[in-house]
Amino acid sequence: MEWFVKAFLKASITWLSLGVTLGVAMAVDPKLIVYRPAHVHMNLLGFVTMMIYGIAYHVIPRFTGHQLHSRRIAGVQWWLANVGLLLMVVGFCLAPHALSAAPFVLGTGGVLAAMSAYFFVYNIWSTIDGAKPAPSPHGTTRPTR
Ligand code: HEM
Ligand code: HEM
Repeated sequence: MEWFVKAFLKASITWLSLGVTLGVAMAVDPKLIVYRPAHVHMNLLGFVTMMIYGIAYHVIPRFTGHQLHSRRIAGVQWWLANVGLLLMVVGFCLAPHALSAAPFVLGTGGVLAAMSAYFFVYNIWSTIDGAKPAPSPHGTTRPTR
């Protein structure tokens, strides 16, 4: 398994554990519901989306028989997704306290997380189109179509 597949799966379950912890805290203390957008994005952008990124990077090259278009983009995408989401969560937590840094932190995180999603789209789209055939187990290349 590629390092970035493992890293996306581990990031996903890490965000799940943080997201549900905040969910329980909100359930117990309704004052914390001001942090709902942080909870929503930890779970939906963290757990759900990162699980999909990781599984797609493992499965789509195998479904299509095409090598992943770019391993480098996949690695960069992991960093963009995680740093972006971390900044978004910080921004969402600062916003209810009317801290002037909040929109900047949230906006920066949002741009990084969105760039990560665009890179994923490009990488998976190009993999489906299959410019690079997957190597066969015997070292030769299989026909693409
Ligand atoms: C132990 C697990 C969880 C607990 C205790 C929990 C708790 C909560 C609470 C207290 C709220 C606020 C409800 C309100 O506004 O009155 C909420 C909102 C929300 N939660 Fe969770 N949550 C959990 C897991 C999850 C997971 C795994 C996801 C997504 C995969 C999720 C997605 C959402 C969404 C989308 C909202 C916002 C709903 C809306 O906009 O009205 N939650 N959650
Ligand atoms: C670059 C990625 C994303 C950015 C920058 C972003 C940004 C935002 C912002 C600024 C809000 C308004 C929060 C507020 O009410 O204060 C919001 C709400 C919401 N977003 Fe996102 N989002 C992103 C991705 C996603 C994804 C991938 C999902 C689902 C899979 C999602 C689900 C939601 C939901 C359910 C709400 C309503 C939250 C609530 O009920 O409090 N977002 N998003």
